[in-house]
Amino acid sequence: MSKVVAIDGTSGSGKGTLARRVAEYFSFSSLDTGLIYRMMAYLDVQGESYRDFSLERFSTMRDTIEEAVFRSDDVSIRSSLLARDADVRNIATELQRNFVKDSLEKGRGVVLDGRDIGTTVVPDAFCKFFLTADVEIRAKRRWMDLRKVNPNVSYTDVLENLRKRDKCDQERDNSPLTFTSDYTIIDTSSGSAEDVFAKVRDVVTERLSSYG
Ligand code: C5P
Repeated sequence: MSKVVAIDGTSGSGKGTLARRVAEYFSFSSLDTGLIYRMMAYLDVQGESYRDFSLERFSTMRDTIEEAVFRSDDVSIRSSLLARDADVRNIATELQRNFVKDSLEKGRGVVLDGRDIGTTVVPDAFCKFFLTADVEIRAKRRWMDLRKVNPNVSYTDVLENLRKRDKCDQERDNSPLTFTSDYTIIDTSSGSAEDVFAKVRDVVTERLSSYG
């Protein structure tokens, strides 16, 4: 078993916020794996090659390009489409495994959030969570967030975007979004982000106590 917390789930279910809090609480390294696919999609849109995408490139892009660029509707949909490609997944998976290896070698636990962390990237992760929520609730939350920066954003567009990405992620042949019996499933439709964090914190604390 690796000291890795895998947080998988549907788009907009609160994985990112949770992963950041868990990493901070346990002083683990963390990696938002969706950002890797988003950056590759962004490069593709720009007509640049993503074939040599690396952790170094990831860090440079994160430090020099505003994150909102990678979170636009256009890049979101493109990342889900691109993520169906086996070569793209191999590049992203290798990068994620290198990040995990490096952190574990330094004695640090790791939190990864994505779609296939516990099923493909780190199948021996010691804690696996699968987050989901009703698609309309996820869309409403995302819409309210997006409206803070763009008051004209349409709820229907946000809902449609989430539905398309769910379909793309669940129906692809390579590492589709799913979970296995070793996952703790959490429905975030009701309850606060605090409730979800408390539940996850307790499971990780308990596993750590028997981890040694
Ligand atoms: O998590 P986020 O919404 O930022 O991810 C963007 C897209 O990248 C997802 O819609 C999904 O298609 C893809 N992805 C993936 N596997 C991961 C993380 C993200 O296929 N581990």
